[in-house]
Amino acid sequence: MIRGSYAFALVEKNDPETIYVAKNKSPLLIGLGDGFNVICSDALAMLDQTTHFVEIEDGEMVTVTADAIEIEDPKGNLVYRESYEAQLDLTDIEKGTYPYYMLKEIDDQPTVMRRLIQEYQGESGEVVIDAALKNELLASDRIYIIACGTSNHAGWAAKSILEKLTQIPVEVHLSSEFGYNMPLLSAKPFFLFLSQSGETADSRQVLVTINQLGLPSLTITNVAGSTLSREANHTLLLHAGPEIAVASTKAYTAQIAVMTLLAKAIGDEKAVPEALDFDVFHELSIVASAMEALVDEKAVISQFAEDFLSDTRNAFYIGRGNDYYVSMEAALKLKEISYIQAEGFAAGELKHGTIALIEEGTPVIGVITEEVTGSHTRGNLKEVESRGAHTLVIVSQELAKATDQIILPNVHPLVTSLVAVVPTQLLAYFATLQRGFDVDKPRNLAKSVTVE
Ligand code: AGP
Repeated sequence: MIRGSYAFALVEKNDPETIYVAKNKSPLLIGLGDGFNVICSDALAMLDQTTHFVEIEDGEMVTVTADAIEIEDPKGNLVYRESYEAQLDLTDIEKGTYPYYMLKEIDDQPTVMRRLIQEYQGESGEVVIDAALKNELLASDRIYIIACGTSNHAGWAAKSILEKLTQIPVEVHLSSEFGYNMPLLSAKPFFLFLSQSGETADSRQVLVTINQLGLPSLTITNVAGSTLSREANHTLLLHAGPEIAVASTKAYTAQIAVMTLLAKAIGDEKAVPEALDFDVFHELSIVASAMEALVDEKAVISQFAEDFLSDTRNAFYIGRGNDYYVSMEAALKLKEISYIQAEGFAAGELKHGTIALIEEGTPVIGVITEEVTGSHTRGNLKEVESRGAHTLVIVSQELAKATDQIILPNVHPLVTSLVAVVPTQLLAYFATLQRGFDVDKPRNLAKSVTVE
């Protein structure tokens, strides 16, 4: 009788000991306790009760009592489903001494890089990736990355890494657009879904279509057992630990790192010179150290937030190539928690209209990590300065000039996004604090957008 996405828990008032549960597309889990059972949309919310869960599939109805659960499929047949143990514990979801989860999660990033090295490095130094996944990617002629928001930005940041190391063309699409405006597909497409939560409805609706077309798919996610993980052919986990703050930070860098590991594995199989020459584990360990150096500069970055962002209504991040993609993410971070109208803009495109918005004091933050385009972006910064902008430069050490404000430790050119984003995450954090807003729970937003 009911169409669309839903998740219900119903109690019949004369029988309060029984809960009737039904779901379609929206996430729902049953937690198995000792002498009780519990229902929720996310394992994290039940961790103080249990770490044992049973997944519910779309269209199923479940009768839950304190000592039993009975699952029926849409035809009324009883279904038996194994429970699983969530690899989470309460310390994962506590703030500890941090004022906000977001700051804890920004600080977590070096640890996440080192954990990914452990999780994905094999005994002989190879990247451990499931053989079936590798074969499907090796057989493909184009990779389609499907994601929303920050995950979409991670896709853009990884596009050149994947293309250079695998020599397979990559397209990056917004889930909500791709779902209703699918481009002409290549002969042998491979679909890569990026989703921290693994529950984003816009992305999931694309995966439903891809499955109907019988095309190969991989979900890279932070949540094992999530819908996008279960419904794709393959899953790679971010191992980033629960990300509680609505503004995604460590999941973004973890997604880029996992795609880098995947690209290295495929490139090695194809004996692509750039891949063979790229020691991914060594480079990610350098990235971890660089991130550590940057998160130690909180006081300096807090001051820049005050100097540049304390009383502005708008702001721009500009860059070229990967620096443009980082600028897209930097702008989203800033706008979604500080409510400053920020745009991540291709530096070379500003003069084609948008520069009309620049006025006295408009903050424009330039991201420069690529030698080839760095001087052009500097030229664009001069253009906006001459129109009154207040400019701040985030630049790799090897390209830095004396007047630049935020210097990034040098890392391999392929993975500069992983370090360039860190100061922008901190700028967003401090700008929000200084405006007195709730960093972890910004207005109008949910951590997982389970509606289209
Ligand atoms: C990121 O800071 C936002 N919370 C949002 O853009 C998020 O990245 C987007 O909704 C996608 O979520 P997912 O990665 O869980 O699919």
